[in-house]
Amino acid sequence: MCGIVGYIGSRDVSTTLIAGLRLLEYRGYDSAGIAVAATGGEISMRKRAGRLANLEGVVGELPAGSVAGIAHTRWATHGAPTDLNAHPHMDEHGDIAIIHNGIIENFAELQRELLAGGHTLSSDVDTEVIAHLVEDAYQGDIRAAVAAVLPRLRGQWALVVMHRKEPGRIIAARREAPLAVGIGDGEQFLASDPVAILEHTNKIVFLRDGDLADLQRGGVTFYDAAGELLTPTIETITWDGAAARKEGYDHFMRKEMDEQPRALSAAMMGRVSSNGIAIGELDAITPALAAARAIEIVACGSAYYASLTAASLAERLLQLPVRVTVASEFRYDPPPLSSASLVIAVSQSGETADTLGAVRIAKSAGATVLAIVNAAGSSLTREADAVVLLQAGTEISVAATKSYTSQALVTMLVSLDLARRAGKLSAAEVRDWSAELLTIPAMASAALDASDALPDIARKYFGAKGFTFVSRGAGLATALEGALKLKELAYIHAEGIAAGEMKHGPISLLGADHPVVAVVLQSPVLPKLVSNLMESRARSAPVIAVLSGVGEWASFATDAVVIPAARHEIAALIATIPLQRFAYEMALLAGADIDQPKNLAKSVTVE
Ligand code: G6P
Repeated sequence: MCGIVGYIGSRDVSTTLIAGLRLLEYRGYDSAGIAVAATGGEISMRKRAGRLANLEGVVGELPAGSVAGIAHTRWATHGAPTDLNAHPHMDEHGDIAIIHNGIIENFAELQRELLAGGHTLSSDVDTEVIAHLVEDAYQGDIRAAVAAVLPRLRGQWALVVMHRKEPGRIIAARREAPLAVGIGDGEQFLASDPVAILEHTNKIVFLRDGDLADLQRGGVTFYDAAGELLTPTIETITWDGAAARKEGYDHFMRKEMDEQPRALSAAMMGRVSSNGIAIGELDAITPALAAARAIEIVACGSAYYASLTAASLAERLLQLPVRVTVASEFRYDPPPLSSASLVIAVSQSGETADTLGAVRIAKSAGATVLAIVNAAGSSLTREADAVVLLQAGTEISVAATKSYTSQALVTMLVSLDLARRAGKLSAAEVRDWSAELLTIPAMASAALDASDALPDIARKYFGAKGFTFVSRGAGLATALEGALKLKELAYIHAEGIAAGEMKHGPISLLGADHPVVAVVLQSPVLPKLVSNLMESRARSAPVIAVLSGVGEWASFATDAVVIPAARHEIAALIATIPLQRFAYEMALLAGADIDQPKNLAKSVTVE
């Protein structure tokens, strides 16, 4: 949520920062800003509401020959997305420029104090108070001033600060919001997500909570929360340049949808073979797995729905309670937790504030935390006791696609491996599962092909009042995700619901102008689902169905997309693919911004 880039060195500062922001724009895009420091110290700033393109239009007005700079793309928390509220923020003398991701929870109190002390605040943004506090604390050393102010702040921050009197210096600090330093040769970089700087350097230091970094052209000095010098861990990150390019596609979303067979195959690499299933990353927590008496899965958004896909399978196989909870609820109302709890946190970014909050609660209660995560090096990977990476590659489109199907698959693999380790799956059962799992990439390709029916179906129903997505069993997660995709991409109201609940209210909505989208899989509850769909048809509602191995049962469908037959847990995962395409086609018809839907951000690093 929100993107930060910083640079000190001899390249053109504005060009370097704007190029970095372009790679981060998907993380927040309601306004953007940049501040650059000239050799003589003067700080020049430009800020624009709206997309990055608006800022790019004025960045040429900045003076050439700058030595350092910081830039930001914003997702508004405090204050509307206006030019004024965009970051950076400055003190009233133009000495200090500051960018902040996160929320300063005690900003109102600090604002009152500053106003009483004679300061003039010019924006509605919580961040601005930090600039004024640093101004008061400044005695010739910007690092000392920032370090003195941090203990006064409550909340979360990734913070970058420059001072007019020290033009060759940027101070960076973090608490519960990601920030990384890129180490170069005679140049240094900062980014909230290393993707913004990896084309320049792959030597990355991920700041830890409480850390502070002092960047100067010749090198970076790191300090811990107590102000002691730190020897940083420099990680070498592989740069997947292709992932950040559209490569001929109109949208990242469409490209990432098409990448699903490859991503699903990568998720199984070294974990599933014709001989069985073994996730080596789980070995590190073997005693905790054996001791687990309950499994709690926490996640947000699409990751939450992806986790639901495998939850009842896990429960059935392990004969243990398995609960999936939205992380924002879990963190403030956790279930009973102990050293006998295994908490599985599922996240694409590994930076979602609520998911991290839930993990900290779990750890403080003695639970073991397993992370299923896409972004290597993210905060979640550092906080968990064990990590299983999705291997889906960078996902740029805000709406999750390949990360969703990979999360559903890896959660399923973990469930199967836990059952195998617990002796609850026979060798023959494991082999059956493996054989079918290995066909998933081919099934995903077939589902992509079958999705070519969706542009016509979308045209037929575009203009409907709303859509109700239904299923039963494992397919329910898919229905929920399908509804979410349609809402977030095409801004059309949609609801996902267990088909058996239709008769308790939602059926009132149905009619010729309110279709049902059904995920219909070969499962023990198929006849029940079919009855619910016949009830919908009896109310004149069209039924758009994604069908897996349903054969003669399909007469209820007004429009059908047929995907390969498979076990219902696996088919549920594959059935997501046509629903992604449905939302994509509806969004095209709606003229919506597909890769950056309004009001959303790829990675939600605030509560
Ligand atoms: C945001 C994204 C969603 C994502 C959710 C959880 O809302 O727009 O696509 O599912 O965050 O993100 P995570 O990175 O934890 O999977």
